[in-house]
Amino acid sequence: MSTLDWRSHPLVLAPMAGGPSTVPLAAAAASGGMFAFLAGAYLAPQQLREDIEELRALVPVPFGVNIFAPSDDRPSMRSEAEAYGSLLAPWAASAGVELGEPRYDDDAFGAKLDVLVELAPAVVSFSFAWPPADAVARLRRAGAEVWVTLNEPDELAWAVELGVDGVVLQGWEAGGHRGGPHDSGRQQPSVDVLVRELSSAARSAELGVMAAGGVMTGRDARRLLDAGADAVAFGTAFLPSSEAGTAPVHVHELTQGRGTTVTRAFTGRSARALVTTWTQRFSDAAPAAYPHVHHLTAPLRAHGKATGEAELVHLWAGTGHAAARTLPARQLAELLYEELRADG
Ligand SMILES: Cc1cc2nc3c(=O)[nH]c(=O)nc-3n(C[C@H](O)[C@H](O)[C@H](O)COP(=O)(O)O)c2cc1C
Repeated sequence: MSTLDWRSHPLVLAPMAGGPSTVPLAAAAASGGMFAFLAGAYLAPQQLREDIEELRALVPVPFGVNIFAPSDDRPSMRSEAEAYGSLLAPWAASAGVELGEPRYDDDAFGAKLDVLVELAPAVVSFSFAWPPADAVARLRRAGAEVWVTLNEPDELAWAVELGVDGVVLQGWEAGGHRGGPHDSGRQQPSVDVLVRELSSAARSAELGVMAAGGVMTGRDARRLLDAGADAVAFGTAFLPSSEAGTAPVHVHELTQGRGTTVTRAFTGRSARALVTTWTQRFSDAAPAAYPHVHHLTAPLRAHGKATGEAELVHLWAGTGHAAARTLPARQLAELLYEELRADG
């Protein structure tokens, strides 16, 4: 059960790993009244510790931290990622880049969990897989609430069984990876459908409900709160904020008239991104092999970010990206609350 005061702070800054989430972004959003998440994925455990301590020193309010729970590792994933690599290699070579080695890793899950148990932020949320029951118990004993991400209605029963405090209902519109425990590769329900179908069952099971996906304005958030969510998360809306660590090429492309697609082409896990030559040419061939494909493509994506070549970058974006407003994060947070109240 969530004991946080969602009524006073129903708007949430979503975790966005890989650059966009920064301590200054979280601090600015929190100063504007939002419940802010840090993204712990891809960070070294020591960096995660420092970020939590720094944010704690900057803002006197509760915040959350998200990490990825370890994905499956099947032997076929490596060979499938290698086959995908042989398709990508000529394209990478034409950019002067050698692809990486497909490999498995658990993103230092155990060491990050130890940091989170020790520092006990108000919320620890998991995506990509669900945490083992003993991890949930350790975090809850330390005083952190545990939330898990889901994309499909039938995943609610697993969350109830795991004994978590809340669920992030991430709709099909959401930018970035599908955060739920099972990457089906199929189209999944919209955020409105998830909130409508699951809110009352979640409430009966004493779980908090956070809605995410395609939410760009306070008015969008009002719709989801009225439909039963306790809180509503914004990701893409904050990508252009000056405090975010979003690559300039990524910010620029958000408003250039591209559409979005859900693809495994960049990491081996379904994620919503802006349509580029990469997604058009390679999505059909990309296997379900995370993080093997993530490591395979990392050098090419890093090169694209550094040189500003949009066609070489994973441009994560939700369906609402064209409505993104370029404002400092505190100002955007305050505007979102004004819009929310105006519609309430
Ligand atoms: C650039 C980017 C990075 C993301 N990284 C994470 C992450 O590390 N962990 C996570 O649970 N969700 C991640 N997400 C998903 C968001 O937490 C959230 O579900 C999504 O942004 C909501 O949809 P919206 O982008 O349309 O607002 C990411 C999204 C984006 C756009």
